[in-house]
Amino acid sequence: MLIGVKSAQFLLSHLEFAMLTIKESLEKVITEALIEVCGIKDAKGQVIYASRPEFGDYQANGVMAVARQLRQNPRDLAAQVVDKLAGNTLVTRAEVAGPGFINIFLNTEMLAGRANACLADHTALIIPSSHPQTIVVDYSSPNLAKEMHVGHLRGTIIGDSIVRILEALGHCVIRQNHVGDWGTQFGMLIAHMNSLSNDEKALSSNLADLEGFYRAAKQRFDAEPEFADLARSYVVKLQQGDADCLAAWQRFIDESLRHCEEVYALLSIGLKRSDLRAESFYNKELPNIVKALSEKGLLSESEGAQCVFLDEFKGKDGNPLPVIIQKRDGGYLYASTDLAAIRYRSDNLGADRVLYVVDARQSLHFQQVFAVARAADFVRQSCKLEHIAYGTMMGEDGKPFKTRSGDTVKLRELLDEAVARARDLVAEKNPDLSDTEKALIASTVGIASVKYSDLSKNRTSDYVFDWSSMLSFEGNTAPYLLYAYARIQSVLRRLEEESVTPGEHVYLVQPEERALAVKILQFAELVQQLGDDCFPNQLCLYLYELSGLFMKFYESCPILKSDSETRKSRLALANLTAITLKKGLNLLGIEPLQRM
Ligand code: ARG
Repeated sequence: MLIGVKSAQFLLSHLEFAMLTIKESLEKVITEALIEVCGIKDAKGQVIYASRPEFGDYQANGVMAVARQLRQNPRDLAAQVVDKLAGNTLVTRAEVAGPGFINIFLNTEMLAGRANACLADHTALIIPSSHPQTIVVDYSSPNLAKEMHVGHLRGTIIGDSIVRILEALGHCVIRQNHVGDWGTQFGMLIAHMNSLSNDEKALSSNLADLEGFYRAAKQRFDAEPEFADLARSYVVKLQQGDADCLAAWQRFIDESLRHCEEVYALLSIGLKRSDLRAESFYNKELPNIVKALSEKGLLSESEGAQCVFLDEFKGKDGNPLPVIIQKRDGGYLYASTDLAAIRYRSDNLGADRVLYVVDARQSLHFQQVFAVARAADFVRQSCKLEHIAYGTMMGEDGKPFKTRSGDTVKLRELLDEAVARARDLVAEKNPDLSDTEKALIASTVGIASVKYSDLSKNRTSDYVFDWSSMLSFEGNTAPYLLYAYARIQSVLRRLEEESVTPGEHVYLVQPEERALAVKILQFAELVQQLGDDCFPNQLCLYLYELSGLFMKFYESCPILKSDSETRKSRLALANLTAITLKKGLNLLGIEPLQRM
């Protein structure tokens, strides 16, 4: 049947469309047809997904706006556009619907051609952006005075996923770990270090528990006035560049970074030392920021502090809110450093776009900093600044997640617990596995579950952390997807001896086969959209739906019992599903297992 012509056809369609997704190709074709019909140069096809299968695969909405503008009957106009689509290789059928939509039914052979092209070259599953940019992503960025706690989870893994997505789209991504390594707390920590440092062993073991170290220092700071004075004097010395103080500070920072790196390794986060641009990096620029703001006439003094007042920021009382740049004692603030960082990112790093993956509670801070940076020309006009905000991880009591005793939960401990829980689960489900296998599965499932349950929630909302739902094998969860992937692998293994030439076998006959192929090809569209709006939960939903379509296909389209050609086609389709699942999970920072 179709198989003979297929190879040639897929090559052609591959070449023709390699750089555009189906949706983009349709948008182009419909827009061109629409412009030809109506003569309006900026008319748009406005192609979106069809809302129901009986309405086709995609739908074009652009006719209505044009018809309104020309005072013409939209259905007549739509019919003319539909006529122009005759003979197009993308579309088998297009029909006018409702007040003037166009329902689009994709050409099944084109779909098979594209699926084969993706099998021949897996990179074709993602279509790089036609406008590669330099994108700075500021993420994780913990304060180094304390150990990473659960509050750092979201920014770290959401940022990491966004970075992976942008790189897959061919952008030049510059990671910036804007760690907090400066400020008054460090005086207190150095004072505590110095009191221990005669005994190197005691110091090392104390620093091993950074959280405890911080608590001890804070306790002394609050209880012992001489200690507090000493701590304050160290802050001044540190700012003056005193060598001993700097050495102690550096020692502490190194230790703290080592803690972070342990967590990054556990979570497979790709942040390296070279991605660090700590707050202290900008210290020497801060006087220049003050100077530049003053030269622009943006600075005014308020209660001894240097502030910027912008009309757009007013407090509840209607009075303008200040952005404090320099305190009365000469000290700088979080916002001052961020202004220096913006200038560096725009001018030195050449960013076209800067993404700040930071807690939503800092949203006013970023609005203000962005506005001041624009007003002061610290950022090139063309450079976009975006706060990629995320909500808080809550405990079952609806308050920010804490231990029973009300302490913050160390991220490290949370991850260890996840792996331990996964180990119990694996032992219960699969007691016959070897210990090594159990350990590998447990660490993958445990970590993936924590990451996935977070990434699958809309990042802008708060969510309640819940062990049992994240470790469930049902629903939109990591265990479900990892299991789905491993199951496809086991099907593929059983048929390993079949000779399958990549890129030649897929043909789509059953509706379940077709639906699966359409979904797979839409992966490229989704990844492009993710690059724009940075909502990894959309990727989770996609992967969950893809697995669901695979299950339907698997149930209604036998693989083993079919004739040879059909078997090869279905095998190839199963393989392409697995490849897509893996790519998608990788973009979330999850490496699936071959066996589970
Ligand atoms: N260190 C800050 C915190 O823990 C986050 C820094 C985010 N990045 C930035 N450029 N302000 O809250």
